[in-house]
Amino acid sequence: MNHVIEINNLSKDYETGFWRKRKVRALDSLDLNVKGGQIFGFLGGNGAGKTTTIKILMSLLYPTEGMAKILGRDISDVQMHSSIGYCPENPYFYDYLTAREIMNYFGELFGLSTERRKTRTEQLLTSVGLSEKDWDRQLRKFSKGMLQRVGLAQALINSPEVVFLDEPMSGLDPIGRREIRELIVGLREKGTTVFMSTHILSDVESLCDEVAILRKGRLAATGNLTDLLSETGGTRSFEIVVSGVSPVALNEDLTAVAGATTAFHPSGARIEVLAEEDIDRVFPMIRKNGGRLVSVTPVKQSLEDLFVRETKADEVSA
Ligand SMILES: Nc1ncnc2c1ncn2[C@@H]1O[C@H](COP(=O)(O)OP(=O)(O)OP(=O)(O)O)[C@@H](O)[C@H]1O
Ligand SMILES: [Mg+2]
Repeated sequence: MNHVIEINNLSKDYETGFWRKRKVRALDSLDLNVKGGQIFGFLGGNGAGKTTTIKILMSLLYPTEGMAKILGRDISDVQMHSSIGYCPENPYFYDYLTAREIMNYFGELFGLSTERRKTRTEQLLTSVGLSEKDWDRQLRKFSKGMLQRVGLAQALINSPEVVFLDEPMSGLDPIGRREIRELIVGLREKGTTVFMSTHILSDVESLCDEVAILRKGRLAATGNLTDLLSETGGTRSFEIVVSGVSPVALNEDLTAVAGATTAFHPSGARIEVLAEEDIDRVFPMIRKNGGRLVSVTPVKQSLEDLFVRETKADEVSA
């Protein structure tokens, strides 16, 4: 299998406090392999260790233990870094420069020709949704979302093979989020591997092929998103929607069905049962109480359920 990112037994302790005596283990023996050409979602609650991992991969932090490779080369390999891109969590630039100047600066770092820098800058600033009138404005006059867009454009100046995005959607308005989602999908179409951390689970569901969930610096779950969601039960319960039912009487009858819950609304009720055979038991009760069946739907586990379970498990047992 061709992995573009290989992480082996990676750990990071931050030394904090007076004399740096206290150690905080931010990352604990992380093993993770990421296949090329996909969008990989790196998930976890606040403080789970996502940014720490990305910073180690970018060679901005030294790991306490372990090693990692990108594109088959050790993360300390300087040349490899010219084939990857990185947009930090809160992009910060020298803010007296304009968007165009920043792009030009990074283009120069990567050794692009003047002509190439110009075309690439204009292409990228357009694709991240920055209008032409803002290209020559100083960044200190930019909003948070506008800076985020510059950060993304900057990460792509060298047409990287792998791009690391630490919360690329943060600070973006709904239109911005859609534009950036489209940009990310476009990257995958061109064969770029995207490794992104995010808290926006709906974006993960619509974008990511595979995910990893971190919990307190450890890997809690990883794999193909569809498999992960179906693995743990797949269908969790069934939702039965009925109309014109008498609430009190139906509620009384439903006490015979273990685990059934009901929510009444003016035009009817929504009943949730845990097992498929319970559906047949509920049907006669609906009829008996003057109700009419509207729909029966299997309720699938959502990414949110998975996320909450995987990131909370520790707290319950701790
Ligand atoms: N410079 C630092 N010094 C000491 N501890 C740190 C430092 N940076 C991060 N940490 C700690 O390391 C842990 C992981 O932090 P990290 O920033 O990697 O989390 P994250 O998953 O990116 O969180 P978020 O979703 O909030 O961005 C946290 O407990 C944090 O307090
Ligand atoms: Mg972070």
